[in-house]
Amino acid sequence: MRIKDFKLEEYFAKYEFNVKYTLCSSDCESFSVDELLALEQDSLEDLKEVSLGYTESLGNPKLRKEISKLYDNISADEVIVFSGAEEAIFIFMNVFLKKDDHIIVQYPAYQSLYEIANAIGCKVTKWLMDDENSWELDLQFLESHVTQSTKCIVVNFPHNPTGYLPTKDFYERLVNIAKRNNIYVLSDEVYKFLEYREAERLASVCDLYDKGISIGVMSKSFGLAGLRIGWIAAKDKELYRAVASFKNYTTICNSALSEFFAILALRNRSIIINRNLDIITNNLNLLDTFFNKYKDLFKWIKPKAGSIAFPRLLVNDSVEDFCLDLLKEKSVLLMPSTNYDYGDRHFRIGFGRKNMPEALKKLEEYIKEKYEVLN
Ligand SMILES: Cc1ncc(COP(=O)(O)O)c(C=O)c1O
Repeated sequence: MRIKDFKLEEYFAKYEFNVKYTLCSSDCESFSVDELLALEQDSLEDLKEVSLGYTESLGNPKLRKEISKLYDNISADEVIVFSGAEEAIFIFMNVFLKKDDHIIVQYPAYQSLYEIANAIGCKVTKWLMDDENSWELDLQFLESHVTQSTKCIVVNFPHNPTGYLPTKDFYERLVNIAKRNNIYVLSDEVYKFLEYREAERLASVCDLYDKGISIGVMSKSFGLAGLRIGWIAAKDKELYRAVASFKNYTTICNSALSEFFAILALRNRSIIINRNLDIITNNLNLLDTFFNKYKDLFKWIKPKAGSIAFPRLLVNDSVEDFCLDLLKEKSVLLMPSTNYDYGDRHFRIGFGRKNMPEALKKLEEYIKEKYEVLN
C-alpha cells in the first residue's frame, strides 16, 4: 500500500519533544505509574505478578469486560483490543474497504479516517464543516451524496479538531440515514466522556445499530496515550472475525503491562475522567476569556466537548507562518490547519494539559508584541 505522509503526526514528531509548551495536544494530562497504582490498594503486588509472555490476541478478557461496561448493549466478545485507536482504524479500513468503494467522511478529520481509504483506492466524499456555520453539519448533504457504492459514513464526535458535538436528535437522524441505506457507520469516539454537560453525551453507534462500529481508546479522555490501548466495539460478527484475523499481521497481541494498567484505569474511570474534566473546564474558561478579549485577531467557536478547539486567525496571510513564528519566539506549539489539509487560516489549540494557562500567557505575550491589540 502506498500512503501519503501523516501530516499532523509528522509535525508532532518534528516539534513536540523539543518545545517548552505543547499547546495543541488532543490528549488529556497523563498519569504516572505511581498515580495509577495509588488507585487501588494491592495494585503493586498485582503488577509484580503480571507475566510478560504473549497475551490473548483479542485482548485480555478482563480488559474486554471492562471496556464492554462503557457501552449499554455490548458484551466482552464484541470487543477487540488494539495498539491505540490508530491500529483499530487501519485494520478496519483494510478489511472492510476495497478499490472503488465509496465512503463519506466528516471533514476536517484526523487523517487516517480518510487517507487509508484513499490509499486503498476508494472514492472519498468530504462532508464539510465550516466555522461560518458554527461547525454544524448538513444532513441533506449527507443524504444526497449516498450512492449505490457507498459503504460507510465515517464520523468523529466529539470532534477533532473543532470540539463539535451534534445534538442527540441530529445523531439519531444520521444513524437513520445509514440504516435506511443499509450502510455502515464508523464512529470514532475517542473523545467520548469529555462532554461538558453529561446530558449531551451521545450513545455509541455500536449500541444503536448492528452495522455501527465504535472506536475507543485510553489515550484521550483517560489521558493514557502511552499505554497504546484502543479498541473496536461492534456487533457485526463477520467483520469482527475479519478484523481479528488481520491483527495477526500487525501487532498479534497487546502489551501485557499496558493491558494491566488499562484495566486498573477503567475500573477507576470516574476518578480519571472527573480529574480530566476539571482541568478542561478550568482551561476552557481561560480560553473563552482570551478569545473574547482578542476578537479582532481570532474567530472563536466555543467547543461543546473534548480537549481541543479550532479557532480561525483573522490577521496574517498564513496560519502556518504564524505558528512557526510563535514556536521560534516563545517555544509554544500550535497545530496549523494545513496539517489537516483544511486551508491556512485555522489552528488547533489543546486544553487538556495542566500547564495550559502558562502556555496561554506565552501566546498572549506573543500577540501583544506582534499586533496592536488592547492591553
Ligand atoms: C479522532 C482521532 N482518532 C484516532 C486517533 C488515534 O489515537 P491513538 O493515538 O491513541 O491511536 C486520534 C489521535 O489524535 C484522534 O484524534
